[in-house]
Amino acid sequence: MIILKNIKKVYNPKKANAFEALHDVSLTIEDGELVAVIGTSGAGKSTLLHILACIDSYEKGEYKIDGFSTINLSERRSAQLRNEKIGMVMQDFALVEDFSALENVLLPLEFAKRKKPNRKLVAMNALKSVGMEEYAKKPVNKLSGGQKQRVAIARAIVNEPSIILADEPTGALDSKTAAEIMGVFRELHTQGKTVIIVTHDMSIAQQCGRIIEISDGNLIP
Ligand SMILES: Nc1ncnc2c1ncn2[C@@H]1O[C@H](COP(=O)(O)OP(=O)(O)O)[C@@H](O)[C@H]1O
Ligand SMILES: [Mg+2]
Repeated sequence: MIILKNIKKVYNPKKANAFEALHDVSLTIEDGELVAVIGTSGAGKSTLLHILACIDSYEKGEYKIDGFSTINLSERRSAQLRNEKIGMVMQDFALVEDFSALENVLLPLEFAKRKKPNRKLVAMNALKSVGMEEYAKKPVNKLSGGQKQRVAIARAIVNEPSIILADEPTGALDSKTAAEIMGVFRELHTQGKTVIIVTHDMSIAQQCGRIIEISDGNLIP
């Protein structure tokens, strides 16, 4: 379970260009929910997602993940927590373009604290679950946008995280491909994962069990 209590996020704190991107955000997300986060550009959606992913710190409040507080986590501990519990999917895929699909999906397994002995098989299974096993050997720069996003999802789920976070994962895709990628997220939700998707697209948001709207750093009740 995800619990945010009175989270305040300031970029460049104590500097002349300090900017408060989240003011007082409180939010609970139960295990297995499928949630959309919507809001205009600059509202704070990515900021919220980065805090949920333990990529960014916060100035006030507390974020607890499965009862575990993330206050004052060291860089190392937050990386570890991320590796264990969280899979992240970005709009621009953030893949290594000249690596193959398989090599990209293997990367998080190489970073894992306890390395699995059968990493290749585990990575192939992740590719299989997003329908990409036939493309395992292909360099990512030879794949279409939808195929790249499937590889990015495979990479996000390969460590079997309980939480999948996606930042505008369909923003760069045509509507048919976007619908297919949304199908992959819905399947993950069906498998019991907690899935949180930032999106501009109401047709994506409406497929989620809950829509959270954020405006100028505040959640709209
Ligand atoms: N690294 C940063 N430094 C300073 N301001 C930032 C930084 N990242 C985002 N912001 C600001 O915080 C606000 C929220 O940004 P963001 O969370 O990216 O919005 P969204 O994803 O909803 O478009 C924006 O005004 C943005 O300019
Ligand atoms: Mg954003």
